[in-house]
Amino acid sequence: MSEDRAYQCCINPDCAATFGIDEALFACPRCGDLLDVLYEWDRLPVPSRLAQFEEAWGRRAEPLAFSGVWRFRALLPFVEPRHVVSIGEGQTLLQPSERVARYVGLKPGRLYLQYEGLNPSGSFKDNGMTACLSHARLVGARRAACASTGNTSASLALFCAAAGWPSPIVFVGSGKIAYGKLSQALEYGALTLQIVGDFDDAMRQVQAASKQLGLYLANSLNPFRLEGQKTIMYRVLEGLRWEVPDWIVVPGGNLGNSSAFGKAWHELLQLGLVPRVPRLAIINAAGANTLYTLYHERGVRWNDGRPDRKAIEAYYEELDRARIRATTVASAIEINRPVNLKKALRALAVCDGVVRQATDQEILDAKAQVGAGGLGCEPASAASVAGVKQLVSEGIIAPDDRVVCILTGHLLKDPVATVAYHGTDQKQFDSVLGSRGVRRATFANRPVVVANDLEEIIRAIQLYALR
Ligand code: F0G
Repeated sequence: MSEDRAYQCCINPDCAATFGIDEALFACPRCGDLLDVLYEWDRLPVPSRLAQFEEAWGRRAEPLAFSGVWRFRALLPFVEPRHVVSIGEGQTLLQPSERVARYVGLKPGRLYLQYEGLNPSGSFKDNGMTACLSHARLVGARRAACASTGNTSASLALFCAAAGWPSPIVFVGSGKIAYGKLSQALEYGALTLQIVGDFDDAMRQVQAASKQLGLYLANSLNPFRLEGQKTIMYRVLEGLRWEVPDWIVVPGGNLGNSSAFGKAWHELLQLGLVPRVPRLAIINAAGANTLYTLYHERGVRWNDGRPDRKAIEAYYEELDRARIRATTVASAIEINRPVNLKKALRALAVCDGVVRQATDQEILDAKAQVGAGGLGCEPASAASVAGVKQLVSEGIIAPDDRVVCILTGHLLKDPVATVAYHGTDQKQFDSVLGSRGVRRATFANRPVVVANDLEEIIRAIQLYALR
């Protein structure tokens, strides 16, 4: 483990500039492209078998062995333990779900949910935040900032509060983030800027403001964030006793997770720690489907690091000209300009991936099935389950494939969407869901209004539960 055996490298093969990890860059200073964190693996101690990570299980009193991110630090060796900022992130679980397997058309025991909602701030973002804030400490950064659809801001705010750092500055689209997430940013003390605009506007502004004010950018443009998010794949492997699944299915927003997963599998293969990689399915919301459109309608591919930039720019110009903004009830992935687009294309190439889009109706019905099955997630996470259902019905995922859906955020992040779905308030349904094209709450569990009277209460229980 050594800070001088890691470096940053531009992903553009025609640039490939390298930089030390002691720099806070967020984009290649030469060509503006994305950066990777790379390692001189042959000069680093890497386990010869994944099962060697089990040795950390017996040392739970040590914070770095306890953390679900840092117990794998041999696979993200960019930081010395003294710089690590950890709050016990990554204690998440991989659980089979028979109900969801049935719903999507998989055989019993073949569908697993990786429940990242169990993280301290309730979403997968904590995996990345611990890594990027450890880097922030390494470079001596003083103040952090991010743009967010809600979960990144909640995670950044929590980590800064827990570490006793100055409150971060978070940029969110006004009225665009779910209440659970907004309440976290406020409670944890972040300076919360509600930009009159959406996430894409907030992302553009935070980059400009960070440059001008020298703020440490904690979005997934930051390659150290993605190093932490690789560990979600390691925990999936851990949950499967180090067997590689057939499919990893993940919602796609800013495309940081899918990018991190692709890098994780590429490295594991390169290090000889896995015999093969799983296939990757990235699921957009239909109302925020940039990756889907570019991949399927414009034929954009990784192309060895030279994707068709003109096709991408032309698409963004079309969106602007037609004033098309992202719109979906899955507000976490309501994004039209995913900053990690190129890395996600690379991940699709590495993992023989596919891209699908799910409507808000499909997302909410899938979400209700996840909840009824006993875990629960926010709308964006359920896009993964809706995507599996499509891919099984298309015959692309076979009924006995072993499939892992990443549940990215906790059910309680967005109570409004859930209550609008299950509730009986037609006005609320129409304004929250109907306006987005949701026609029915297929799996609604309606609340029952009953008088404050024991006899009526007993009658209601007999009527609804004991028949
Ligand atoms: N699921 C949830 C719950 C999210 O919060 C996000 C992203 C995603 C999926 C998509 O992941 O961006 O890696 O493709 N939320 C970001 C935020 C954008 O600001 O909290 P991605």
